[in-house]
Amino acid sequence: MERTLTSNNAGDTGIQPIRWADGVLCLLDQRLLPAQVRWLRLETAGDTADAIRDLVVRGAPAIGLTAAYGAVLAAREAWRARGSEWQSMYSEQISLLAQARPTAVNLRWALTRMNALAATLAGDPEAALLAEAQTMQAEDLAVNRRMGRLGAELIGTDAAVMTHCNAGALATAGYGTALGVIRTAWTDGRIRRVYAGETRPWLQGSRLTAWELSQDGIPVTLLADSAAAQLFRREPPDWVIVGADRIAANGDVANKIGTYSLAVAARFHGVRFMVVAPTSTVDLAAESGLDIPIEERGPDEIWSVASAGEVPEGVTVANPVFDITPAHLIDAIVTENGVASPPDAESVARIAAPRP
Ligand code: MRU
Repeated sequence: MERTLTSNNAGDTGIQPIRWADGVLCLLDQRLLPAQVRWLRLETAGDTADAIRDLVVRGAPAIGLTAAYGAVLAAREAWRARGSEWQSMYSEQISLLAQARPTAVNLRWALTRMNALAATLAGDPEAALLAEAQTMQAEDLAVNRRMGRLGAELIGTDAAVMTHCNAGALATAGYGTALGVIRTAWTDGRIRRVYAGETRPWLQGSRLTAWELSQDGIPVTLLADSAAAQLFRREPPDWVIVGADRIAANGDVANKIGTYSLAVAARFHGVRFMVVAPTSTVDLAAESGLDIPIEERGPDEIWSVASAGEVPEGVTVANPVFDITPAHLIDAIVTENGVASPPDAESVARIAAPRP
């Protein structure tokens, strides 16, 4: 699986972490950034599920798009192995993809859309499914740009903003959700300073967000996650702007671990809090954050930051990688359909409704 495709700097054409080239899925390996820019070529749905689980690609919309291309690979494998009886083998591969990560609902959303099309197909399914995945990727880019504009309009002028994790081009088809708002607002001249929390334990903030913004020439100040409250007290930013992995019907938001503590500190210090996510991240079947599954990853992600070697006897490690921010701590949820502010069951239902 780990073959090098190219090592060009992705900044020259804009960062697009997911590409379909020469009939295979190419992923920018986010485990290696920023030290190395390396691409993996994936030819099977099983390898695609592994890549999602191992964080080669991460971020809710990017996980969904990757799974959509994984469905194309699943259909190709199944058609080659079983011909017109391809559907059952395809479904087995889809289950593997669906289980790769539990919290980002975009994974389920993307596979549901691919499966709906797959169910209508007779003959070789690859071309139609590929066209659907490519449409989803183009739509995601357009949606990011629309949210970027809507979110930027909420930011005043001469603003300082803080973000957490990476909700940027690397986490989407390109441009980003939270970072899409920051990019647009920066281009408008509304922002004077961007802070990014390093995002322990996997360091999406320092490894990915700092790299991504620097590729675009947007200066960013990194700080340890634990330094945020002190920053809010002494030099409060105007907004905290983050992405989401799942938004419940009542406006509760699941996002990278540490988002909830930022929201608590932000409210305490009068800093406004914005969540930016496409409607594919809204899960109306989840009544509240209590219904959202929280991924727990292995101890090595935490322990490797402290030391090499085994975890000492008597020490256990907890590694929940997402948390729930209750709706009442959020000032605005920005989607491509509009802004829910304040977020509650009514405003979320309004933005989640399909557009005519
Ligand atoms: O574990 P990750 O890196 O997949 O977590 C990503 C996040 O929490 C992002 O903030 C979220 O998926 C939104 S990405 C536009």
